[in-house]
Amino acid sequence: MSTNEKRQAGEAAIRYVEDGAIVGVGTGSTVAYFIDALADLKDRIQGAVSSSEQSTAHLKRVGIPVLDLNATGKLTLYVDGADECDPHKHLIKGGGAALTREKVIAEASDQFVCIIDSSKLVNLLGKFPLPIEVIPMARSLVGREIVKRGGNPVWRDGVVTDNGNWVIDVHGWQIADPVGLENDLNQIPGIVTVGLFARRPANVVLVGDKVL
Ligand code: A5P
Repeated sequence: MSTNEKRQAGEAAIRYVEDGAIVGVGTGSTVAYFIDALADLKDRIQGAVSSSEQSTAHLKRVGIPVLDLNATGKLTLYVDGADECDPHKHLIKGGGAALTREKVIAEASDQFVCIIDSSKLVNLLGKFPLPIEVIPMARSLVGREIVKRGGNPVWRDGVVTDNGNWVIDVHGWQIADPVGLENDLNQIPGIVTVGLFARRPANVVLVGDKVL
């Protein structure tokens, strides 16, 4: 993991911010650099839509208005980090448990700029355990469905998401067909969000200040 590359990526994403924009903002340590850089432009943007309580607090601290996605409608830009990124810009996200709001904002945005350091680049997704947000009463059911599919589900004990749900991390999957797996898991009742961003991959990936 390179802190320097995270800072470079967060700062490089600023070039995608247009005057007057409402910017979708993700969650994590790389995004924290983006928020700090965005603060310098706060008089030129309308505000931000935030993917977590953590990012909301940071945005407010630096004086950027936080807006409600229901009021803004479609966004032009979403900037967020990732836990893994494959050559097709398919991602694993949710290490910070913010995957549901992240996925909603990514879906609502024309362009998803993903900011990472080079340790996140992989040929095949799955070494990083795949986060899945579930409603609490479905934890065991979902766990059994994951075992049927060859995964090893581990409950992230003690973690409650911003939406009041729980997270299961799936170990042991080598994800050769991310779109197929995402579609399959999306059918299991009780799953709120799968941390695979394959149906809606990133459009641009910044590894440090380099465009992938
Ligand atoms: C948050 O839930 C995640 O999706 C983050 O985007 C991811 O964990 C990346 O975080 P860092 O930028 O801290 O590595």
